[in-house]
Amino acid sequence: MKLFFDKFKPFFYNSNLEVISNDCMKASVKAFKVKNGNVPKWDEAIETINTFSKGEVVLNSPYIQIKCNDVNSAELLIALEKLLPWRKGPFMFNDFKLESEWQGDLKWRRISENIKPLVNKNVLDVGSGNGYFTLRMAMEGAQKALGIDPFLLFNYQFQAIKSLIDSPLEAMILPIRLEDMPKKPIFDSVFSMGVLYHQRDHMNHLNNLKAMMAPGADLILETLVVDGEKGYSLIPNDRYARMRNVHCLPSIETLKSWLIDANFRNIKVIDINKTSPKEQRRTPWIGKDAASLQDFLDPNNSSYTIEGHPAPTRVIIICNN
Ligand SMILES: C[S@@+](CC[C@H](N)C(=O)[O-])C[C@H]1O[C@@H](n2cnc3c(N)ncnc32)[C@H](O)[C@@H]1O
Repeated sequence: MKLFFDKFKPFFYNSNLEVISNDCMKASVKAFKVKNGNVPKWDEAIETINTFSKGEVVLNSPYIQIKCNDVNSAELLIALEKLLPWRKGPFMFNDFKLESEWQGDLKWRRISENIKPLVNKNVLDVGSGNGYFTLRMAMEGAQKALGIDPFLLFNYQFQAIKSLIDSPLEAMILPIRLEDMPKKPIFDSVFSMGVLYHQRDHMNHLNNLKAMMAPGADLILETLVVDGEKGYSLIPNDRYARMRNVHCLPSIETLKSWLIDANFRNIKVIDINKTSPKEQRRTPWIGKDAASLQDFLDPNNSSYTIEGHPAPTRVIIICNN
């Protein structure tokens, strides 16, 4: 993806992130080489979007809004539709609203009210999705906001958004798994949001997050939890809220004990929130007839998932290395 490589050097060079740039470049090149039948369609979308003039990016809460004046809205719509499904957002292009499945502003508010300012910080957003939060981090003044997500479509979505923005917003997404990142302790704030429960080895994930943190850095960890005592975790036999790859949902006390075992300090729970259909909702931007939270819950009792597990509840923890 040419656009990606054009943006790579200016983002990494002459910054603290330069020490990881070669390895990140190699890992990204490898990831983009993977055969995926959708790539020609996604490339087409980016090529179209890249012909549009760029515009200013602002926060028009809950939307990240790009004021791209000369954009042909019909063509933009067609290009963005080639990049379905849009899970994370929402975004606005002039007055046109892209309502993603997740209303990301709600999570970001719960987080941003409780963290140290990101101004001039180097920030790593692990499992960034399409970079909605990575962009929010950059818009809050991060010196560099690097998101990593191995899912290629999300990398394309990010490039689509980024190529419409004219301001020098220091945000970048790379198609790299945390396990494959060069382990250098260079980030002042490391975010892992909605990622831990997808890991087969949760301790490995926590240790890898720690390896990326500069001395005194903050880890902001957001993950699914269940009620229970220290030591209790739910290990779904099969699916959880229709998701296949959910490995382990700890109680909050269990999660804290994992963090202690990984040598994290100053562990603070800053928020506990039951996911609502206002935050995760069916919209046309996840595709025709696609399902969302309301379809994953027991129709007779929304305290349970369709499989009979406790409905999704998320905790946000901040701690230090
Ligand atoms: C549920 S989404 C969360 C997205 C976003 N952080 C949020 O909070 O809404 C989890 C994302 O983590 C990514 N992911 C899963 N395992 C990962 C890993 N080992 N390294 C980096 N990203 C990973 C997935 O591709 C997916 O996009």
